[in-house]
Amino acid sequence: MGLELQIARVSKNYNGNRILRDCSFAFGGGRTYVLQGPNGSGKSTLFRILALLERGDRGTVNYLDQSVVLEDNLALRRRLTLVLPRTGIFNTTVFKNVAYGLKVRGVDRATIEARVNDALLAVGLGHKKWHRALELSSGETKRLGIARGMVISPEVFLLDEPTVNIDPANTAMIEAIILKMKQERQATILMITHDPAQAQRLGDELIFMQDGKIVPA
Ligand SMILES: Nc1ncnc2c1ncn2[C@@H]1O[C@H](COP(=O)(O)OP(=O)(O)O)[C@@H](O)[C@H]1O
Ligand SMILES: [Mg+2]
Repeated sequence: MGLELQIARVSKNYNGNRILRDCSFAFGGGRTYVLQGPNGSGKSTLFRILALLERGDRGTVNYLDQSVVLEDNLALRRRLTLVLPRTGIFNTTVFKNVAYGLKVRGVDRATIEARVNDALLAVGLGHKKWHRALELSSGETKRLGIARGMVISPEVFLLDEPTVNIDPANTAMIEAIILKMKQERQATILMITHDPAQAQRLGDELIFMQDGKIVPA
């Protein structure tokens, strides 16, 4: 059922400092995994490795489809998305910001139009389509970042602190978007948060990181 992600004994050092230590876990099945842990414990580093943007120094990271290990990282990267806490927004319209990921993948115009509209509606930004992205509020900017991730219909969606530094109304909207993504698209979702109540609301599984180690709840 969809992509499965298995990591085994993944370690990572930066400048001789051990950031990740022997991290092993399995993700998949359209479940939502919520990762919590102190600043600097290695959560974002782990997410970059899971999103195949970076490699561990040791250990294995395997994506499987029906038990077959997928080797083509480029093809794989099209099936997953990492949304960062501060999304780099291009100085153009909201529409073009979301369309970008499809354009670089060579998707045709009509499909881009339809999918961008869907993604913008899903995050409540349909009415801001032709606004300049840099003029959005911080909550809207967060939702724009999520729309950019959603538009490629990822099977695995990684969200690094999707509601950090925004107000309760935007937080509630983003939680609703995440739940909908799980229910309607059967995406496997991994997210990082510092809010234990939010973790309880959204997570099928709660995971903790401490000093670069994964500690299951
Ligand atoms: N590219 C990098 N180069 C050097 N050190 C890094 C890099 N990325 C992260 N670190 C260090 O790794 C540690 C863990 O960082 P991070 O994964 O961002 O933690 P978290 O997301 O849990 O706050 C921190 O001490 C951070 O300074
Ligand atoms: Mg982080």
